[in-house]
Amino acid sequence: MSLLDTRPLSGVLGASVEGVDLASDLDDDLVAAIRAAFVDHHVLVFRDQDLSPEQQMRFGRSFGDLDTHPFVAGNDEFPEIIDVITEPDDRFTFGGGWHTDVTFLAEPDLGSILYAVDVPSGAGDTLFANQHAAYDALSDTMKGMLHGLVGLHSAGPQYGEGGLSTGNTAMRTRAADLADAVVRHPVVRTHPESGEKALYVNGAFTIGIDGLHGEESRTLLRFLLRHAVKERFTCRVRWEPGTLVMWDNRSVQHYALYDYAGQRRHMRRVTVKGDRPV
Ligand code: SIN
Repeated sequence: MSLLDTRPLSGVLGASVEGVDLASDLDDDLVAAIRAAFVDHHVLVFRDQDLSPEQQMRFGRSFGDLDTHPFVAGNDEFPEIIDVITEPDDRFTFGGGWHTDVTFLAEPDLGSILYAVDVPSGAGDTLFANQHAAYDALSDTMKGMLHGLVGLHSAGPQYGEGGLSTGNTAMRTRAADLADAVVRHPVVRTHPESGEKALYVNGAFTIGIDGLHGEESRTLLRFLLRHAVKERFTCRVRWEPGTLVMWDNRSVQHYALYDYAGQRRHMRRVTVKGDRPV
């Protein structure tokens, strides 16, 4: 029997975890139970946490080394923490489109851990989509066509010159030539812990499919991107100050909703390093 009391967030992914104080010292059995629940549910929600940046980083390190973002400056004191801030005057929010974190890296982060410091009341939710469920729902013929295909990923559309993610006032993002490097990942990846297959393309960073002509690549990608985030594969998390959510970048996409213009939202994010998708 698991040490954890979990309650599902939807029929397809996500669970809230009750009765765990993440500020305390977590023993190895509890960390192992959280990791198992993370692989099973893909998104874990812990409510009513009171975490300093150091405690959030210590929790993140229970799952591996922490990463720093190549194009978004970290917190001055704690470079592994990104303050995800939307100011009242901003016109868009960081993460405001379906994506999987940092797939432009050869070894994208295994997971992300986001803690709510200040959230607009009743708004600023985050959506998640289960990419195992999206893959499973495809026909066997489509699955057969996708196996062996390679997606081309780049930070260029977000962090290249004039990129979509470089105009937010509160976050210190930087456009860089490096952003245009192209990295190759399988269109269908196998989760290294569960062995399950998942779709692995996303609208923010996947710029094409290797070996297909331009129109073929755009058409297939458009279909996959729409399919991957159909409502039936999703759950939605409502934040309160003190909510912490960890998600598995090997099996989900996410989307930060921007429905609170004129209000401020401040989250703290740490990410755990991952390995090369296969
Ligand atoms: C992100 O994409 O990491 C940010 C998600 C959010 O702010 O809800």
